[in-house]
Amino acid sequence: MRTYLVTGGAGFIGSNYIHYMFKKYGDSIRIINVDKLTYAGNLENLKDIEDRDNYTFIRADICDAEAINKIFEENDIDRVVHFAAESHVDRSIKHPMVFVKTNVLGTVTMLNAAKAAWELPDGTYKPDHKFLHVSTDEVYGSLSNPEDYFYETTKYDPHSPYSASKASSDFFVKAYMDTYKFPANITNCSNNYGPYQFPEKLIPLTINNALHGKALPIYGDGKNIRDWLYVEDHAKGIDMVQEEGKLFETYNIGGHNERQNIQIVKTIIKTLQELLPDDDPRKKNVSEDLITYVTDRKGHDRRYAIAPDKIKAEVGWYPETCFEEGIKKTVKWYLEHEEWIDHCVSGDYQKYYEDMYKNR
Ligand code: NAD
Ligand code: TYD
Repeated sequence: MRTYLVTGGAGFIGSNYIHYMFKKYGDSIRIINVDKLTYAGNLENLKDIEDRDNYTFIRADICDAEAINKIFEENDIDRVVHFAAESHVDRSIKHPMVFVKTNVLGTVTMLNAAKAAWELPDGTYKPDHKFLHVSTDEVYGSLSNPEDYFYETTKYDPHSPYSASKASSDFFVKAYMDTYKFPANITNCSNNYGPYQFPEKLIPLTINNALHGKALPIYGDGKNIRDWLYVEDHAKGIDMVQEEGKLFETYNIGGHNERQNIQIVKTIIKTLQELLPDDDPRKKNVSEDLITYVTDRKGHDRRYAIAPDKIKAEVGWYPETCFEEGIKKTVKWYLEHEEWIDHCVSGDYQKYYEDMYKNR
């Protein structure tokens, strides 16, 4: 039975990936989920699979070399899928150091542990053991020419502390592949959306605020463009890269769904108006009147857009979910899981919201 070590599996994409993998492989794989449970980690995301015999949760910090080495010593890990990271740009602007620690030092700790466990005396590695590093398109910087796209060959040009820390972690993975022939892949994906996303990111924050009749904050002129990828398509892409991709290669995973932020917010308002029943008192509050333009994010990248040509040609993956379908599924999921959001936004979230948006 193949054993996966998933880092950050209690977060947004990691928990969707674990659900996807159990749906696809059932009892034929084992998953060990290692997560520190920061503000972004939520075991409620995994409630329906937590009792499976082939699933184990371990609370640990990926910077803790002793704890991570122990997991490799006690388990024959075949695959690592490394999601754990600090992931929010706005937080990185306020508190860059935690991004350096988790995203850079944490990744190198994971690489060292896997290398020590998998390397054979002759410098080769146990057969069929692989590490996949999940990264972002933000490492490529901002596109100014509307005809340009991010390719795997695009020069790195990160601007935020978040993207700089992810770029640095990517370079460490590349360095381990080049120097030690360490068996890895890197995937750089565009903005994900879907179930279980923490409501600090644009889409769940907009849904949550709209349902509470609160202002919908739009940074700057609202015309910044992101390329939205439905999270389940991403989970499938990661699995396909690990199974069908060429080792040592980088693959960009994008949704071919470019939208301005203002379009996203207006689509969410329209979708909520469609999905909320007429007798729901919140329905009358959900309107474009809630849209509020606020001070722009510092160093705000204008446009991200991936050309997922390589992954399509070499791996056969393409984004299956169009934005209209994906956003409907997402809004529906949040409406059906209001308790989940309520738990997320209790406690520390209120303080975060004050810090980030008061007087903005
Ligand atoms: P998230 O913030 O929702 O989840 C991160 C998870 O990592 C949480 O469960 C958290 O508890 C855990 N974690 C944080 N620090 C840790 C540490 N030191 N040790 C162990 N666990 C720790 O993030 P996400 O949106 O699911 O992103 C997952 C990965 O995908 C990240 O590497 C991110 O950079 C990348 N990515 C995300 C997006 C996106 O749109 N969300 C886009 C491109 C790339
Ligand atoms: P976000 O979801 O934070 O993802 P990222 O910064 O990694 O792309 O933001 C998506 C876009 O939405 C980005 O251009 C910033 C913008 N944004 C707002 O306009 N208002 C908000 O309240 C948030 C959270 C983001």
